[in-house]
Amino acid sequence: MSSTVELASALKGSGLLYNHVCSSLSDLDMEMVRSVPPGGNWKDIPLATVKKSSRLTQIRASGGRTTYYGRLRSDHPSYTINTYYNRPGNGTFIHPDQDRLISHREAARLQSFPDEYRFFGSAASIRKQIGNAVPPLMARAVGETIRAGLVVDLFAGAGGLSEGLSQAGHRVVLASDINANMCETLKHNHSDATVVQTDVTSEAQLDSLKQSIEATLGGRTLRIVAGGPPCQGFSTAGKRDPTDTRNSLIIPMLEIVSEFMPDYAIVENVPGMRHLQKGKVLHKAIESLESFGYSCQCFQLNAEQYGVPQRRRRVVVLANRTGKNLMLPRPSFSPVTRGRRREDVGLTSATHPPPINVSEAISDLPMRPSGGGSAERDYENCWLGSDYQRLSRGLLKMDEFLRKRGRLH
Ligand SMILES: C[S@@+](CC[C@H](N)C(=O)[O-])C[C@H]1O[C@@H](n2cnc3c(N)ncnc32)[C@H](O)[C@@H]1O
Repeated sequence: MSSTVELASALKGSGLLYNHVCSSLSDLDMEMVRSVPPGGNWKDIPLATVKKSSRLTQIRASGGRTTYYGRLRSDHPSYTINTYYNRPGNGTFIHPDQDRLISHREAARLQSFPDEYRFFGSAASIRKQIGNAVPPLMARAVGETIRAGLVVDLFAGAGGLSEGLSQAGHRVVLASDINANMCETLKHNHSDATVVQTDVTSEAQLDSLKQSIEATLGGRTLRIVAGGPPCQGFSTAGKRDPTDTRNSLIIPMLEIVSEFMPDYAIVENVPGMRHLQKGKVLHKAIESLESFGYSCQCFQLNAEQYGVPQRRRRVVVLANRTGKNLMLPRPSFSPVTRGRRREDVGLTSATHPPPINVSEAISDLPMRPSGGGSAERDYENCWLGSDYQRLSRGLLKMDEFLRKRGRLH
């Protein structure tokens, strides 16, 4: 009897489910959502509905991204999760088989956060925390190329980068962000780390942050300074503004690197960083790191190749002063390849299994009405359908997951 109970709870998972809450839709948005099939977008919305919306009328007249008003496909990884998954018109955020937007928890699953990871603050803040995060499984793959050690995470946000590095065996001793909600999320999920709320553009606050780092390290070797400076100036999702002062936030990060001289520095950003002002900010960053004595490698990573159920491209500058070769993390899944048309998508390769898809990522999460859900619930006895879901619920270890579903190196 007890073994049957144990088996049932292992299959269903136990414990609480956090942040499984989705935004509501207006009547008109609901009309649009109902007309979009899985994999479809604004082009599927009938003319009679289009005419009721000036935005849709404009998109239809002048063309718009094929991700707008998109509904996720169960059998593919999701498109990039950004901070606007509260609106159907801003990306592909409609649930694959329920007429509603994805919940925070579903967005977090698509970003590869484990279910025990909780997000605090208003709905808008939680969307920023999740949408701007480095997917933990991608960060983990980068972290695994470096011998475990102490980490300082700057611009830490909700802590996607910190989470991945921790999963790779590193110890995040200090994480910092300007925003109080981000700091609350960091404190809850990284309770061993010193969390410092700092605006690095203020000289006084930057000085005090440096003192906190020094005190926290207490003479111990710092292995990594990691950071994803805000990317609004670089991202193709926003307007690319070369004068955006946020582009210069990389400077205080470089200052901290030059002062503490960690073995490694990791700078993460969006691919747009390579192109804005012909890549000037990126080149300046690399030049500075080299002038401090670091060797640098810059590469672009595809999140889906590291177990993240999402197409997300990120640029990483990896720098060290140890003389060791800088290694590109080894992928465990095939990349998504694209043809000219939206439907020309390849998911297979001769060497690697296909990436995790949306169904594997979220199909076990309880149904929700549009605009419904609560911050804290149980799993409502929903049965597990995939190894990714077991991984998310903490019922499967990463190496078992890779052995069963991906490619273990
Ligand atoms: C792209 S997000 C970082 C995401 C994070 N690396 C993760 O994986 O979750 C950038 C962060 O920089 C923070 N930030 C913006 N301006 C800042 C400033 N002046 N000082 C410190 N942090 C700042 C934002 O609050 C935001 O959380």
